[in-house]
Formats: sequence, C-alpha cells, structure tokens
Amino acid sequence: MNLKEYVRVIEDFPEPGIRFKDITTLLRDKAAFRYAIDQLAERAQGLKIDHVVGPEARGFVIGAPLAYALGVGFVPIRKPGKLPSETLNRTYDLEYGKDGLEIHKDAIVPGERVLIVDDLLATGGTIRTTIELVSQLQGTVVGLAFLIELGYLKGRDTLEGYPIQTLITYA
Ligand code: PRP
Repeated sequence: MNLKEYVRVIEDFPEPGIRFKDITTLLRDKAAFRYAIDQLAERAQGLKIDHVVGPEARGFVIGAPLAYALGVGFVPIRKPGKLPSETLNRTYDLEYGKDGLEIHKDAIVPGERVLIVDDLLATGGTIRTTIELVSQLQGTVVGLAFLIELGYLKGRDTLEGYPIQTLITYA
C-alpha cells in the first residue's frame, strides 16, 4: 500500500509558504490506518520496549494504537498546564512558533525502555524535547517512529544516535 496517496497536502496552512501534511485523510481510511500502525508495530519488534511515548495531539493518534498493538502502555507528552500531577517541563522551537511540553514525573521509571512516536518529523524540536524529558526521568530511548518525515527540514540530522523509522518521506 502506498501510504503517501492517503496524505492530503494543503498549501499555505497554517501560514503562507507551509505545505501542511494533512493525515486526517489517512486516519479516516480503515485499511490505510491499520496498515500504518501494523507497519510501525512490525518495525518495533525486538526492541523490548516498556512504553510508547507520544506528544499531543497527533502523536496520540499514532502512538496509542501502536502501544496497543505492541501490548505495552502509552505515556502522553502534553502542552503546558494539561497534566494534572507533578510534571517536568521544557520549551522548544517549532517549524512555525514556539511551545512547551510536559511529562508526568512518575510516568517513566528509571531504566525503562521507550519508543517515542509522532505523526511527523519536521525540524525535530518536538522529538528532541521529548527525548530530553524521557532522559531526565532516566528512561532509555530505544527508537523513534514517525508516519511522515519532512526530509528537507533535516530533523533527522539533529537526532543522531537514535534508530529512526518513518513510513512516508517528503524529500
Ligand atoms: C506537529 C506534529 C509534530 C511536530 C513536528 O505538532 O504533529 O508533533 O509538529 O514538528 P517539529 O519536528 O518541527 O517539532 P503540533 O505542534 O502542530 O501539534 P498538534 O499535533 O497538536 O497539532
């Protein structure tokens, strides 16, 4: 299955010059959605992970079913002020804008093996911040998985040393 055919590209959203990759068209297709999650699950075999960790909001849509498929738990990374218990917080730069991310301090036990999952790798800011949060809790990041990689933004170059899986690439 060619998953790229299910992604809709929207010109000039949310700002002029941005070609937004809309995954809602992939998610609403039962066969494409299942295939995408199954592919990511297959590539995560053998990593012996304890948790999938995914950033809000689209990281939940990919990360939670992937965790279910792998038979492990899911840990949410959220934007500031959303998590109710004690949190760690870090700020980061986005492809457009700036934001912060938080994780519950007790979400990762030291030594746990984590697969970080998101819908899209752009500049890598979101994922670097997520790696920092997990690392600060002494979790081990054993892999990074994405539905889409925007190769031209070179996020991958800032994530050296971590195995990366992506299903769809825009060069
Ligand atoms: C988008 C996307 C990734 C991130 C990628 O999330 O879902 O999480 O940007 O960009 P980066 O590699 O440059 O950090 P966004 O912050 O738009 O949040 P959303 O999923 O809540 O829409």
